[in-house]
Amino acid sequence: MKAIVVTDQAAGTAGMTLVERPEPPAAINDVIVEVHASGFVPTETEWPSTWTDRRDRDRTPSIPGHEMAGVVTALGYGTTGLSVGQRVFGLTDWHRDGTLAEYVAVEARNLAPLPGDVDFTVGASLPISGLTAWQGLFDHGRLRAGQSVLVHGAAGAVGSMVTQLAREFGAYVIGTGRAGDRQKALDFGAQEFVDLGNDALEDVGGVDLVFDVIGGDIQRRSAGLIRPGGTLVTVVGPPEARPADGLAVDFVVEADRAQLGEVVQRVRDGRLRTNIGYIATLDDAVAALNPTERRKGKTIIRVRP
Ligand SMILES: NC(=O)c1ccc[n+]([C@@H]2O[C@H](COP(=O)([O-])OP(=O)(O)OC[C@H]3O[C@@H](n4cnc5c(N)ncnc54)[C@H](OP(=O)(O)O)[C@@H]3O)[C@@H](O)[C@H]2O)c1
Repeated sequence: MKAIVVTDQAAGTAGMTLVERPEPPAAINDVIVEVHASGFVPTETEWPSTWTDRRDRDRTPSIPGHEMAGVVTALGYGTTGLSVGQRVFGLTDWHRDGTLAEYVAVEARNLAPLPGDVDFTVGASLPISGLTAWQGLFDHGRLRAGQSVLVHGAAGAVGSMVTQLAREFGAYVIGTGRAGDRQKALDFGAQEFVDLGNDALEDVGGVDLVFDVIGGDIQRRSAGLIRPGGTLVTVVGPPEARPADGLAVDFVVEADRAQLGEVVQRVRDGRLRTNIGYIATLDDAVAALNPTERRKGKTIIRVRP
């Protein structure tokens, strides 16, 4: 099969190459999915799991990409809930070969059915950003209607999902980002926007929840805005700051079939919009994932036309 591999951590995405690889076998509890579309998070080459297995052994050349939509072609022993020929989408294991390939082996529990009226390209754009937003707001942030949420990077892949879900659940949303992101963040439903380059973050006043995708100084200053009992949720590593009277939580997104179902149902009925900025074929993926200019929205690799 055709696959994109990385071999050199220092080279990052610039070290990606398109190669021929054997198709993966289905281990116990796995399904094999014929990948139709794959997502990729630009920071993947910084994650240790891209380079090593769970016992920290080198697993290069490794195939990156951990979200996809496709069709089940084989079932390993012990899989439940899926069948050959079924359309699926989901999040694949961090420490195994990923989805920038024509086939991927993935545990069945990491996948959900993809409804027939949802395009594979859309399906591949949802697992990481949708599940991260859902789990950050509801599982870790314990969001309640009427609360206020400061959503960093609100025009980005995760932030745009956080903004829309928080609004749907009755929160007041203040989005942040760069000056040029203002209209996009407002279009996704932010009620206010803070341009982090020019506006004073501190003017926001108190908020109940901060959803951080940036870290560093932005995260530290945001922690100071959190009201008593509030929460800082971050997805960029261990918290560098804590609210004076509240929780600081960092987490790594997990596959969840029921939550994937919640997300895709919202896309079908119009409550959630995807944030796809660019689509390329697998043959053009290396260039597409190494853009020479700043791109807005997610890049999706359409593995099968
Ligand atoms: N822990 C987890 O489970 C998990 C899951 C998903 C994502 N993540 C992490 O979350 C981060 C965001 O992912 P994503 O896919 O949403 O990325 P993304 O689509 O690039 O969104 C990030 C947004 O934040 C903006 N931004 C970043 N730094 C900024 C700054 N200093 N000032 C103003 N705006 C800034 C970006 O603008 P520019 O594009 O102009 O920089 C972009 O609009 C990544 O580090 C990713 O690895 C973690």
